[in-house]
Amino acid sequence: MFSDYTQKAIEVAKEAGKILRQGFGSTFTITNKEGKNNLVTDYDHRSEEFIIESLSKAFPETIFLAEESGLSSQWKNDIPIWIIDPLDGTVNFAHNLPIFSVSIALSQNKEIFTGVIYNPILDELFVSEKGHGAFLNGVKLKVSTSQRLEESFLVTGFPYNIDSNPGYCIDQFIQMLKMGIPVRRLGSAALDLAYVAAGSFDGFWEINLNPWDVAAGFLLIQEAGGKVTKYNGDPYWITDNNILATNGLIHDELSQTLISCYLEITNGI
Ligand code: IPD
Ligand code: CA
Ligand code: CA
Repeated sequence: MFSDYTQKAIEVAKEAGKILRQGFGSTFTITNKEGKNNLVTDYDHRSEEFIIESLSKAFPETIFLAEESGLSSQWKNDIPIWIIDPLDGTVNFAHNLPIFSVSIALSQNKEIFTGVIYNPILDELFVSEKGHGAFLNGVKLKVSTSQRLEESFLVTGFPYNIDSNPGYCIDQFIQMLKMGIPVRRLGSAALDLAYVAAGSFDGFWEINLNPWDVAAGFLLIQEAGGKVTKYNGDPYWITDNNILATNGLIHDELSQTLISCYLEITNGI
């Protein structure tokens, strides 16, 4: 049985998903936040307002970090904080592509206790609670068993400012393709992580994500037996600038490939 927090997060994520499902394919306003393709729609706001209102009514002691409204008050480690992406995959949603999700996590003292990701189009509900496992529609999740990078199925994403600040992500992507590895780019980091937890993908990497993109998925992967670190293998926290999440078995090989690509470029080899 999940905690009251997790149960409420499930209820709220499903309701927010209903709002997005109703909006999907309809006419709505799309605006640019910053940069040319960082979009926001009416539905990002509607979903977020609904989530924050519902959770703050149920748990007045909690605070919020949500993509569209930011921090509700100062982030102090010991205060439970909901970390929310009300619509992860806005560019897909805005172009009527049915790959997006709602992501809700609860954190305290630099740990995630609840992670819920809901895909409203496929009605996929991913739930994890610290120490209680990870589940997809009630079925326990386990990461994949692929042992070698060259036999893996991977997913990644690119930052909105990739044209002006690509980091090494284009080169890393090309490197994987050169190795013959199938790599997908779904456009919802929360779903990318959820599908690693579910064993569909063997690994995921991305730079410049925000806490709301990754907080719920971070817990899901850990609870499904996977591994999450920075690219170089160092311990990861959701405010870090790069994330590497795998089934654990291909982790070192993928980490080395990402880092060696970086070294080759910086050393001009
Ligand atoms: C984006 C998605 C995408 C990732 C971007 C994120 P948004 O979130 O997760 O997969 O590549 O970096 O910003 O803007 O759709 O909530
Ligand atoms: Ca996002
Ligand atoms: Ca979003």
